[in-house]
Amino acid sequence: MSKFYVTTPIYYVNGAPHLGHAYTTILADAMARYHRLKGDDVYFLTGTDEHGLKIQRAAEERGISPQQLVDENSARFRELFERLELTHDRFIRTTDDDHRKAVEAMVEHMKASDDIYLDKYEGWYSASDEAYYGEDEIEDGVAIASGSPVEWVEEESYFFRLSKYEDRLLQWYEDHPHSVAPEARKNEVRTFVESGLRDLSISRTTFDWGIPMPDDADHVLYVWVDALTNYITAVGAFDDTERFEKYWPADIHLIGKDILRFHAVYWPAFLMSAGLPLPKQIYAHGWWTVEGEKMSKSKGNWVDAFDLVEEYELDVLRYFTMREMPLGNDGNFSKARLVERNNSELADNIGNLVNRTLSMSMGFIDATIPDVADPTDEADVALRDRALATVDAVDAAMEERQPHRALEHITKLSGETNNYIQTVQPWAHNKKGDATRVEETLYCALEAIRYVAVLLSPFVPDASRRILDGLGVGNELRTINSLQSWGGLPAGTTIEKPDVLFQKLDPPPEPEDEEEEEQEAEEKPEKKGDEEGANIITFDQFLKVEMKVGQIIDAEPVEGADKLLKLTADVGEDQPRTVVAGIAKSFSPDELKGLRVTMVTNLKPAKLFGIESQAMVLAAKRDDGSLALATYPDDVPPGTGVS
Ligand code: MSP
Repeated sequence: MSKFYVTTPIYYVNGAPHLGHAYTTILADAMARYHRLKGDDVYFLTGTDEHGLKIQRAAEERGISPQQLVDENSARFRELFERLELTHDRFIRTTDDDHRKAVEAMVEHMKASDDIYLDKYEGWYSASDEAYYGEDEIEDGVAIASGSPVEWVEEESYFFRLSKYEDRLLQWYEDHPHSVAPEARKNEVRTFVESGLRDLSISRTTFDWGIPMPDDADHVLYVWVDALTNYITAVGAFDDTERFEKYWPADIHLIGKDILRFHAVYWPAFLMSAGLPLPKQIYAHGWWTVEGEKMSKSKGNWVDAFDLVEEYELDVLRYFTMREMPLGNDGNFSKARLVERNNSELADNIGNLVNRTLSMSMGFIDATIPDVADPTDEADVALRDRALATVDAVDAAMEERQPHRALEHITKLSGETNNYIQTVQPWAHNKKGDATRVEETLYCALEAIRYVAVLLSPFVPDASRRILDGLGVGNELRTINSLQSWGGLPAGTTIEKPDVLFQKLDPPPEPEDEEEEEQEAEEKPEKKGDEEGANIITFDQFLKVEMKVGQIIDAEPVEGADKLLKLTADVGEDQPRTVVAGIAKSFSPDELKGLRVTMVTNLKPAKLFGIESQAMVLAAKRDDGSLALATYPDDVPPGTGVS
C-alpha cells in the first residue's frame, strides 16, 4: 500500500481565518481524499502557528495573554475546518506538548552537527512576516517583497549555519526535479541560494512567547524553526520511529508563494542538519485576488472564511476554488465567475445529466439497474472508453498537481455523457418498444454517472455521495479501483433520484451593465417546476422554439459594450433582422460576415444598449468562456428551418 502525506501551512492565529486559509486546506483535503480513494494510507496535517513576536503583540493589543489569544483563535480555525468538513488526521498546535519536545530534539540534532553558535544579530526584522531581511531587501522602512514594516534589531542570538548548506541545497534542487514546484518557483529559490546564503538568526531575547532555546532559557527560538518542525512532530519524529518511517518524508507541503523561502531553503537545510530525509515536494500556490483586487482589510474586500461558508454550499466553494485557480497561478475570486461555473458546469452539466438519466430510469426501467451484455454498439463503446480514459487522465492530473485539470476531465466526461444521451435517445427506443436498447443505453449512462460521481468525490464530496446513494452502490463501487473495469453497477439494484444536486445561482448585479441586466432578467426562463420535469421538455415545448439558418450580412461593435456585436442577418424574410449578440470576445466583425449560423427567431425582441435585438444567435461556450459557432454550407439558404 502506498502512503500519502500532505500538509498545509500552519496558520498564524493573530487574526481570523480568510479565503486563503480556507483554500489551501480545501486543496489539501481534496488531495487527501483522492489518495484515500486510491486506497493509499493517507496522513493529512493542518493546524495553527501560535508562537512569535507577532502573536505576542496581537495579544498585548487586545490586553489578553498570548495563551488566551491563541486558544481563542486556534479554536476558530478548528471550527472553520469542521464547518468545511475537512478530513485532516490531526490539527496540530505549536503549543502542543509533543511539538515542544520535537522542536527541542530538532535543535539538539542541529547542535550535534555543530550548526548552531552564539553571536549577535544586527539587522532588520519584520514581525508581521516573522522574517529577517537584508539591507538590499528593504526600501523606505518596508520589506520590498511583502510591503510589511521592518524594525531594527540588535541583540544576542543563536545562529544556524545556513551558509554551510548552499551547495547541498543546490544539489538537491538539481537531483530532484519536482522538489520545488512549479518550476518557476524552483528557479526563484535556486537564484536566491546561488546569490549566497547568510547564516540565520534562530533565537531572540527581547520577548518570550515561544519555545525556549534548549539549555539557554534567556532565548526563545525563532518562530520558523518552531513552526516548520510541526511537519515532523505530527508523524512521530524523535518519538515513534515506526510511524515516522511510515509517513516521512511528506509527499507534498502545500504552501502559498509568500512562504517559499522558509520551506524550500530553511526547512531542507534544517532537516539536512538534523540528518533527516527531505520532503518530496514543496508546492507553492498563487494568491487569490478578490474581484480583481488584492484582498485587504483596508480596502474592505477581506473575505472572511466563515462568511464564505455561510454564503455558498461547500461543494460549490470547493469546486469553484479548485477549478478556477490552476495550481501555481494566482486566481481571482469573482462572484460572477463562481455563479457562471456553478450554473454551467455543476447545474447544467452534471446536475442535468443525473437528473435526466435518473428521471428516465424511473420512467423506462422501473428504477432498477438493468441486466445488460457488454457494450457492442459504437456509441456505447465510445462512452465506456471515454470513461475509462478519464480515470487515467484524472490520475495523471492529480500526479501533476493540477486538480483544475482533473475537474476539467470530469466535467468533460459528464458533458459527453449528456451528448451520448442526446445521440442515442433512450426515449425514442422506449416509444418504439425496444426494451433491450433502452436498457443498454440507460445502463451506459448510469455507469458513466458512477464514474463521474466517484471521480468527483474528492472535490465535491456531498453531491458525489448523494449521486452514489441514488445509484444504490456500496462502498466497494465508490473507489478508483472499481473504475478500472466498466460495468460495475450491479443489475437489480434499485435506484432513486437525488434531490436537486446544484441549485442555480443568480448572477450578482453589474452596475455598469444595467441594460444588459434588464435583458437577462427578461430572458431568464421561468422558475423551474418540480424536479421531475426540471430538465426534460416535451416535444411540443421544443417545437415552440423557432430556429432558422441566419446569414450574417454585416457585423459591427456596439459602443460601450465590449461583449456585444450588432449583426444584420438574413433569416429568409423580406427585410434583414438586427441581432445583438454577446459574441464580441470570441469573434471579430469581419470573420462573421457571410457565415450562416443558427438563430432563434421567435424570441420576444429586447433592447440592448438601445438597440432592439430581433433574434438570438446560438453558440457553444467552451470551459474557458470562449465561443464556437456551428455553421451551415452555402447550399443551405437563409431562413431554412432548424429542428
Ligand atoms: N504561519 C505561517 C506558516 C507556517 S508553515 C510552517 C504563515 N501563516 S499565515 O496564516 O500568514 O499564512 C498561511 C497561508 O495563507 C500562506 O500559505 C499564505 O500564502 C496563504 N495566504 C494568505 N493570503 C492569501 C491569499 N490571498 N490567497 C491565497 N493564499 C493566501 O504564513
